Amino acid sequence: MKTFVGFNYHKTTKRFVAQYKDGQWDSGRMMRKSTVCLSEAACVIQYAQTCFEGLKAYRTKDGHIVCFRLDLNEQRLHDSCERMVIPPIPKEMFFEAVEKVVKANAKWMPSYESGGSLYLRPVVFGKDSVVGVKPAEEFEFRLFATPVGNYFADKVRPLVLRVSDVDRAAPRGTGHIKAGLNYAMSLYAITDAHEKGFDENLYLDPANRTYVEETGGANVLFITKDGTLVTPKSDSILPSITRRSIVTLAKDAGIHVEERRIAISELKDMKECGLCGTAAVISPVGKVKDTQEEYTFSMDDFDNTVLGGLRKKLLGIQHGDISDDHDWIIKVI
Ligand code: PLP
Ligand code: COI
Repeated sequence: MKTFVGFNYHKTTKRFVAQYKDGQWDSGRMMRKSTVCLSEAACVIQYAQTCFEGLKAYRTKDGHIVCFRLDLNEQRLHDSCERMVIPPIPKEMFFEAVEKVVKANAKWMPSYESGGSLYLRPVVFGKDSVVGVKPAEEFEFRLFATPVGNYFADKVRPLVLRVSDVDRAAPRGTGHIKAGLNYAMSLYAITDAHEKGFDENLYLDPANRTYVEETGGANVLFITKDGTLVTPKSDSILPSITRRSIVTLAKDAGIHVEERRIAISELKDMKECGLCGTAAVISPVGKVKDTQEEYTFSMDDFDNTVLGGLRKKLLGIQHGDISDDHDWIIKVI
């Protein structure tokens, strides 16, 4: 199996597809066809009625393929569906789709040695035609797989972020769910950030523009000078499964953890900074540029930082090298 550099879509062999019509989900089936045919007035096209998930299947040293805490992805997709007026995917169908897609695409799984993984993307969207603003009555659920490497670059290196001057999610809006519309809101800012040489945008709380929220695709972690792990608490950020897992691993290791609001001005007191998520794992941040200030973190020797140690532990559990004391791993093959 060749090595997959970066985080891109590669069409794999089969995907799981189910339809919702006349008030119920059908039982779904595996399909070779990777394209979707829609009405020009489909609710997803007109009014962005869609939400999704992101999870990975990992290869272990002894040749198995495993998933990580997929019950939490199922729960979050359920919450996203409810907020988007989409009928939630039956729990059993979600788990069946993951199992079938991993098994049908096992040949696409990057090797253990490559450090890559098979990224799974469940997505659900409104299909029937609307012109007036209202939710669809027919929906499609798809779960496809694509082999991936690192999210940010060909190798792990300290990222350079800028504080975004536009917001990603409104107060009391949809920042806490995984709706496509949140990512649409970030496309202008990410394009502009890349053009100006930044890797990502750091968003501030939309009500006050004072507190750190998250980036376009990951939550944020800090280590203070006295070794405390601090991570933002906010109703308008995505409840990252990776972040919740890191918090548990940090506590296991005796690290003091604070989940609270973090003012942007506090960044000058932080020793380490990292982004965390399924795609990002833990990616080190070397610099955050605000309009007046520039905050730097000593992340060059990432392996020897607290966040570097937590990344190693998390990947060790996910790839079966470290014992899974919390029963987070589900063996698929
Ligand atoms: N925040 C945003 C906006 C994301 O898109 C993601 C990715 O899913 C995360 C955080 C991290 O969440 P998780 O760790 O569950 O992948
Ligand atoms: C993930 O980490 O799974 C995500 O969905 C983030 C996305 C921006 C790739």
